Amino acid sequence: MGIKVPTSCRKQGKCKECLVEVTQGMEFLTPRTAEEAHLGKNFRLSCRCKITSDTGVIRCHTMRRGEMRIERHAFELPTRTKTWQLDPCVTRDGDRILLDGAEIARSMAPIHGLAMDLGTTTVVIRLLNLETGEVIADASFENPQRFGGSDVMARIHFDTHDKSKILQRTLVGYLTHAIEEFPVDPQTIYELVIAGNSTMRDLFFRLNVHSIGQSPYRSITELEMEEGKRTTTSLSESAGKFGLPIHPKARVYGLPIISGHVGADAAACMLAIDLANEDRTVAIMDIGTNTELILGNKTKILAASCPAGPAFEGGAIACGMPGLPGAIEKIKILDNDSVQVAVIENTPAEGICGSGLVDLLSELLRTNRMDTLGRFENGEDKFVLDVKSDSPIYFTESDINELAQAKGANVAGLRVIFHDYGVSFDDLDVFFLAGGFGRHLNVESSKRIGLIPNIPDEKIIQVGNAAIEGACIALLSRAKRNELEAMARQVTHCRLEAHERFFDFFVEGCQFKPVDASLATQNT
Ligand code: FES
Repeated sequence: MGIKVPTSCRKQGKCKECLVEVTQGMEFLTPRTAEEAHLGKNFRLSCRCKITSDTGVIRCHTMRRGEMRIERHAFELPTRTKTWQLDPCVTRDGDRILLDGAEIARSMAPIHGLAMDLGTTTVVIRLLNLETGEVIADASFENPQRFGGSDVMARIHFDTHDKSKILQRTLVGYLTHAIEEFPVDPQTIYELVIAGNSTMRDLFFRLNVHSIGQSPYRSITELEMEEGKRTTTSLSESAGKFGLPIHPKARVYGLPIISGHVGADAAACMLAIDLANEDRTVAIMDIGTNTELILGNKTKILAASCPAGPAFEGGAIACGMPGLPGAIEKIKILDNDSVQVAVIENTPAEGICGSGLVDLLSELLRTNRMDTLGRFENGEDKFVLDVKSDSPIYFTESDINELAQAKGANVAGLRVIFHDYGVSFDDLDVFFLAGGFGRHLNVESSKRIGLIPNIPDEKIIQVGNAAIEGACIALLSRAKRNELEAMARQVTHCRLEAHERFFDFFVEGCQFKPVDASLATQNT
């Protein structure tokens, strides 16, 4: 069918890269082979299975690239307008290429570096010229580790029982293909800087991630730091050990993590918004399966992570889907009761993605079709969207319940962190909504349902992928990298699960009503 399927072994069943997710018709395929024993139930290796029936419908896709709406850029960041010196760790002296001042190669070709935002769901890589700071290319793809589960806990469980480190090897295979497609000789790439949550980062470095999945949820790097075995949670390895196609003496540097599930991606966001030099009180919220929260300024910083689950990414929702073509991303209920929607790439609707779900909840509330407890006012058990699609798109009370709980966890996280900081939402100067979901949210809808505090619009900045921006800054500036190392040590981690008020805040946060901006320092 002309679909390019990744492979490094020429269909020998060895590289494990030819992954396909089968969403319908698994029964029409040959039985699973020994080479596929590691895969979750919806996944197959395409070189190991054949179609066994003359009739029937099979739906499947390779791991997605490009077509998936992955947030590759950041917007309105303070660091974009402030000046910092181009001062990378990799420099040139004539034909000598130096890493931290020590020669690692001889070449007159330009010198390059890579920044990567390694997410649980998606991976974004940017190629930069280290002598000019210019971005040459970027690439993004769905994290192929999805065969080991869609959230970090599932991946931790998978990796803990897998001695072959197949999660890491599969990702390296995909990364290798992406690097080889860049328009430069990979041997001219001398450093790779990685921002990612604690689990993704540690898996990439082949560290044991078991401790991140158990209370008190610590990366092995944190535990070793406490025992005095290391001075930083950042990681540094030679590229030769990873089997990547970049220069073998290149350095692979994992940004420091903050604590627990507040990882190197959150650290990169702090660098991107220039928190170390910030006098105002600012908050960063990156809503996802695991929502990360940071609050503070240059004198005091608190951080927390909330396990909100996949509902706002379309998971566990009957007609939910990721931000792909066909996803309803905007919804308005008109006065004549018809529903107006915007679908990504204007195709017939296939489902509703996160920003559409927030709009839908808000519209149901605004038009009195749903009460603040998430019950339909007309006694029906579902709301059907009358839109152009091949199969019915609907929204049920059990979907609302899933979203209520995800929202409850996010709001409780916000309440706890503000409560512990001793400020109210009103005291906030800037509220950064980071990440792809945060970028596409309708702020008015989010405030109406109480997903974000009810603060003035002008204080809210939807920054997009700040993590990749932070990784680029760390790649291009030694001073900024050192600043981040120091800042990461300063952050106090709020452990939500242990907080006495968390459950009360969670129960209240499950209701669909605006979150009063004066809250947080109060006890109710
Ligand atoms: S192509 Fe390598 S395992 Fe299928």
